[in-house]
Amino acid sequence: MSGTPGTDLLARIELRQGDITEMDVDAIVNAANTQLVLGAGVAGAIRRKGGPSIQRECDAHGPVPLGQAAITGAGELPARYCIHAASMSLGARTTAESLQDSVRNSLLRAKEKGLRCIAFPAIGTGVAGFPMDECARIMFEVVAEHLAEGTPLEKVYFVLYGEEAYRTFQREFDSLSKQRQEPG
Ligand code: APR
Repeated sequence: MSGTPGTDLLARIELRQGDITEMDVDAIVNAANTQLVLGAGVAGAIRRKGGPSIQRECDAHGPVPLGQAAITGAGELPARYCIHAASMSLGARTTAESLQDSVRNSLLRAKEKGLRCIAFPAIGTGVAGFPMDECARIMFEVVAEHLAEGTPLEKVYFVLYGEEAYRTFQREFDSLSKQRQEPG
């Protein structure tokens, strides 16, 4: 018996705790800046483990507008692609709007390539200072909307770094699932 509309979509979302660079998926999403300069945090891990080819591709691509997303190879990482979600400009902070846009555009880059599985970090919640719970709500909303539109994406992972982040995302996901099960 299929669940109420919307719960099936949520079945395609999965939370993990760990290091996103270890995910063997079609694409991992980098928490990027508009200059596509790989700094610390997620970007630092991608740079260290993925090797220099990723920054070279970012340099060749050039800066993107705030809220846009660029796709490159993933160098030595298990993933095939790296999607750079520019939710902030260097030295600035992520906003709800730039987060929403960068997640939506990351999903479009994946769709354009016909990718089947993708992994997101908690974009904006480190150096860029965005609140973890609000990040979870916004990211789930944008992903659920994209899945409802129809996409080759079959699986969307959220890979949280540490217990606190994981618990926050799990709590927000549980309340979203409950909302979608209540009739009316
Ligand atoms: N795997 C998964 N999540 C990670 C990892 C990792 N290896 N490393 C860090 N994180 C988490 C952080 O704990 C945080 O919750 O990812 C979230 C995003 O943090 P940042 O990577 O700092 O990204 P952001 O806050 O979006 O700031 C982006 O920081 O490193 C620079 O070049 C980057 O300018 C960009 C800015």
